[in-house]
Amino acid sequence: MTLLEGVVVRGAEERDLADVIALNRAALPENYVQEFFENLLRNYGELFLVAEAGGRVFGYAMCRVEMGFSSKGFGIVRKGHVVSIAVDAGHRRAGIGTALMEEVMRRMRQSGLKECFLEVRVTNEPAVRLYEKLGFKIARRLPYYYSDGVDGYLMSHSLQG
Ligand code: ACO
Ligand code: ZN
Repeated sequence: MTLLEGVVVRGAEERDLADVIALNRAALPENYVQEFFENLLRNYGELFLVAEAGGRVFGYAMCRVEMGFSSKGFGIVRKGHVVSIAVDAGHRRAGIGTALMEEVMRRMRQSGLKECFLEVRVTNEPAVRLYEKLGFKIARRLPYYYSDGVDGYLMSHSLQG
């Protein structure tokens, strides 16, 4: 799996948001108003990444920090929630999604977050495969999670040890 030549994964900037929003609209039925993207960038900018090559944005990953029960024993811990990730349809299967997820998880670990989690459609085989390849496990099934009635998987990955 060779990463597309010249692709750099970096923190997103305000000027990337139009490209990110266009990628999100083209790739996923879960779309959001512009303010949602702006808020994630403002509040969790360290965990909002783009994959860029030659001044063009080919993918993004955006996240949020949330508190939740530790899946390793007791207590409340800070977790990283991958809210949305997408790669341009013409440039998939070139390692960009992996590179985005690996950098997200590196930054989450560096920030002291204990776990990385996300939700994904049970029918979204490419994404489920990507997460499994990175070591994510299905924590549980989320019945009717999506607005069209499709179930979700809650998938998570420990960032400890
Ligand atoms: N079929 C089967 N397995 C796949 C596929 C596919 N079409 N695509 C990726 N994978 C798996 C493979 O194991 C692959 O490794 P391999 O190529 O060595 O076999 C591994 O994932 C890594 O693939 P990457 O090239 O790193 O992933 P890519 O850059 O193509 O991005 C992504 C994957 C983000 C899921 C892309 O397909 C996409 O943008 N899909 C549409 C948007 C989407 O579904 N986003 C995720 C929604 S869930 C959420 O946002 C939390
Ligand atoms: Zn989510």
